[in-house]
Amino acid sequence: MKRTHYCGVISKENKGENVIVAGWIHGRRDHGGLIFIDLRDRSGIVQVVFDFQKNATFFEQARKLRQEHVIAVAGEIVLRSPDTVNPGLFTGEIEIAAAEMELLNASQTPPFYIEDGIDTDENLRLQYRYLDLRRPEMQEMLRLRHRTLMSARKHLDGRGFLEVETPMLTRSTPEGARDYLVPSRTFPGHFFALPQSPQLFKQLLMVAGVDKYFQIARCFRDEDLRADRQPEFTQIDMEMSFCSRDDVIQEVEGLVSSIFDDVLERPVETPFKVLPYVEAMERFGSDKPDTRFGMEIGDISSVAAASEFKVFKNMVQDGGVVKGLNVKGCAHFSRKDLDDLTSLARTLGTGGLAWMALVEDGIKTPIAKFFTSAQLESIKEKMKAEPGDLLLFVADKWETALKVLGQLRLDLAQSLDLVPEGTDHFLWVVDFPLLTYDQKEGRYVSNHHPFTAPHDDDYELLSKEPLKARSQAYDLVYNGTEIAGGSIRIHRRALQEEVFRLLDIGPEEAKEKFGFLLKAFQYGAPPHGGIAFGLDRLVMLMAARKSIRDVIPFPKTAAGTCLLTGAPAGVSAEQLAELHISTIKRNNNNGKG
Ligand code: AMO
Ligand code: AMP
Repeated sequence: MKRTHYCGVISKENKGENVIVAGWIHGRRDHGGLIFIDLRDRSGIVQVVFDFQKNATFFEQARKLRQEHVIAVAGEIVLRSPDTVNPGLFTGEIEIAAAEMELLNASQTPPFYIEDGIDTDENLRLQYRYLDLRRPEMQEMLRLRHRTLMSARKHLDGRGFLEVETPMLTRSTPEGARDYLVPSRTFPGHFFALPQSPQLFKQLLMVAGVDKYFQIARCFRDEDLRADRQPEFTQIDMEMSFCSRDDVIQEVEGLVSSIFDDVLERPVETPFKVLPYVEAMERFGSDKPDTRFGMEIGDISSVAAASEFKVFKNMVQDGGVVKGLNVKGCAHFSRKDLDDLTSLARTLGTGGLAWMALVEDGIKTPIAKFFTSAQLESIKEKMKAEPGDLLLFVADKWETALKVLGQLRLDLAQSLDLVPEGTDHFLWVVDFPLLTYDQKEGRYVSNHHPFTAPHDDDYELLSKEPLKARSQAYDLVYNGTEIAGGSIRIHRRALQEEVFRLLDIGPEEAKEKFGFLLKAFQYGAPPHGGIAFGLDRLVMLMAARKSIRDVIPFPKTAAGTCLLTGAPAGVSAEQLAELHISTIKRNNNNGKG
């Protein structure tokens, strides 16, 4: 039997046609002399009816069909009687009157129902991913991802970008994570690294005169996993020559518009807002602010310094700040609510939380006695507070105070249901500091990566106050998630060497690790810059999902394992010997040998 139609596309337009469909048994209902089968394929579901009166043999066979058996059916498309029409189904007005059937394969009872919205342990879904992917909502994810990639490819091709593949077996490409290493059989004790990104190769492609490059690139990072991180993920990676930051920004806005148009049929408003890093922190307490709602952070440092409240006063005297949130209409929060917020603030890394509730007859707060009424008035004004509002304050160093309040802001918005669904807020965060100081390692580290150019106006600062120097990096933030990051690059050897020195990468180490790049810079490297999208994050947000595992066909668990294949797995002694590797047994090996 050769298939003529997909199940989900048949409608009353096909009335009277003889069709052949094939698929999986989604459900079966026995009604005396009639058996109704819901048959599913990737396009949807169609109802097939077996009638004992018309064909007793097939009727008997149909009676034995179980969930997920695979069959092909031939029959005529007939209209359902009005009372049996299913308006929830595209094919709900018709059914196939089965004339012939072939059982193509049987199935064991699946470990979970193949239907949308199941509440099944994710590990079980990952172990049987091929069944999980049969579910319509997962098929829709695959289609969404496919359409996003096709749209990106089409758009970038149209803009003159050349798709170039770069190696998977390479040297370390530092993006701040650990490398996945691949041992060399032919060079004992030597290893390839899987790329954390195509960063260095795309820069070399600019030296090669490619001018506009893109790649749908697989990246590998051995880092602690979270809901929006996987050890193996996909980037839409781009690089351009002779471009400014604004050229890259414009190019990317075009790409995002195209994707949203093609895939979601939703226009996005361009140009996107641009927020300097310092402003993003000051207003939202985050370098990836969710601007779909307000609750911006206020500053009361000057009042705090003049008050008698030691916690505030001393902090400002020591160079810290006192920042606050106005939680509108929440003056009624209970003691327990406030205690919970305080312990959250503590776990986020600050000493505590101070609060003031604006009640009808004044301000309720345990710290009232430390403030004059003029100071309280001034706080109200600075925090744009009205009766009914709750003010929360954190006194700490600039970054800590803002980050804590930024997180409280997100948590409160969630619990107070302030985040509007179905809105698209894109914004650029720019002017990041080039470096941060890593206390543990006792040295400066790059905020983005070591190849990012310093801000044009800040070269002087590199030798004097490196932490004050801004970079030419930019992040694209979508509804509070960083979906892309990039920068204008260093393209001159001397500057790259200076930045390596700042990062405590000595000349020998620089030559050993990045000699090939430094050399390339000596052969006419053009000015260049670029960006990379986290495709998985983008698709996750487009699909309004909470985990990138939902939009990756075969993801790893949070522990970095593949439950379907059992990877990572032990290998034979022969394989190890061939690779010149001997392993050390440790107790803590997560059950892996
Ligand atoms: P960056 O490291 O910022 O930049 O990565 C770019 C984007 O990739 C996504 N991303 C991830 N997605 C899933 N799992 C992960 N573990 C993960 N890590 C990063 C994020 C991020 O915005 N080479 C530079 C780009 C450039 O400078 O052009 C780079 O990789 O969405
Ligand atoms: P303590 O001095 O720890 O008894 O705290 C006195 C009050 O100040 C309590 O209400 C604390 O919650 C609050 N508090 C302590 N540390 C901070 C801080 N870093 N920021 C804001 N309030 C704080």
